[in-house]
Amino acid sequence: MTDEKWTAVDRYITELIVQPDAVLDAALEVSIAAGLPEISVTPSQGKLLYLLARIRRAGRILEIGTLGGYSTIWLARALPSSGCVVTLESDSAHAAAARTNIARAGLADIVDLRVGLALDTLPVLAAEGQRFDLTFIDADKPNIPQYFEWALKLSNPAALIIVDNVVRDGAVIDATSEDPGVRGVRRFNELLRADKRVSATTIQTVGSKGYDGFTIALVES
Ligand code: SAH
Ligand code: DHB
Ligand code: MG
Repeated sequence: MTDEKWTAVDRYITELIVQPDAVLDAALEVSIAAGLPEISVTPSQGKLLYLLARIRRAGRILEIGTLGGYSTIWLARALPSSGCVVTLESDSAHAAAARTNIARAGLADIVDLRVGLALDTLPVLAAEGQRFDLTFIDADKPNIPQYFEWALKLSNPAALIIVDNVVRDGAVIDATSEDPGVRGVRRFNELLRADKRVSATTIQTVGSKGYDGFTIALVES
């Protein structure tokens, strides 16, 4: 199997099952025109986030790493009108593109985009007493362990915590890796192993954005 075939199958799934969406396509166009890196989740992965949020009946969602708001739009669409996504982004150009895209999607009222380093904003959310039913961790990979600890602190009972990019072309199994992202994922996995509060698994994925994976953790108490 090749990347080419993964991409072709992803296109087939997306056209048939995920289905074309002008607002999401426009969000990607705005992001590319603004020079953002093309590292958003794929359409089929975005739909998975949406479905998980609906299955959980999430009312409040936290996202760490907004980029141009592509995954934010998928998550926000899963919410009731009383719901809210708080999304954290450190890069002001990324945040500007995201604001445009979120507004065009008609979701500006339920998305609270906060610009700054996530590790600075997370304590602010805690001080505000905010709690979430689902957290999507998708920012800088060396900080995944810290983001996971914050997600646990900010979780409602039975919350889901989803972490993107935890397989990294299979590099995750290299215990000698000096890649800070791989090391971050491996430290996160050690936390998961030791933490009795969560039940988790990791699913490897292939598709139009290559070979990677995500972890889904259920907060038990
Ligand atoms: N979730 C997005 C993709 C996010 S890409 C989607 O799927 O559509 C990762 C984003 O995290 C980038 O926009 C990057 O600027 C942001 N980021 C990196 N380090 C960060 C930090 N310390 N705090 C907040 N955001 C950060
Ligand atoms: C990168 C970040 C992501 O969130 C992703 O899904 C793919 C790549 C990156 O920083 O390279
Ligand atoms: Mg990602």
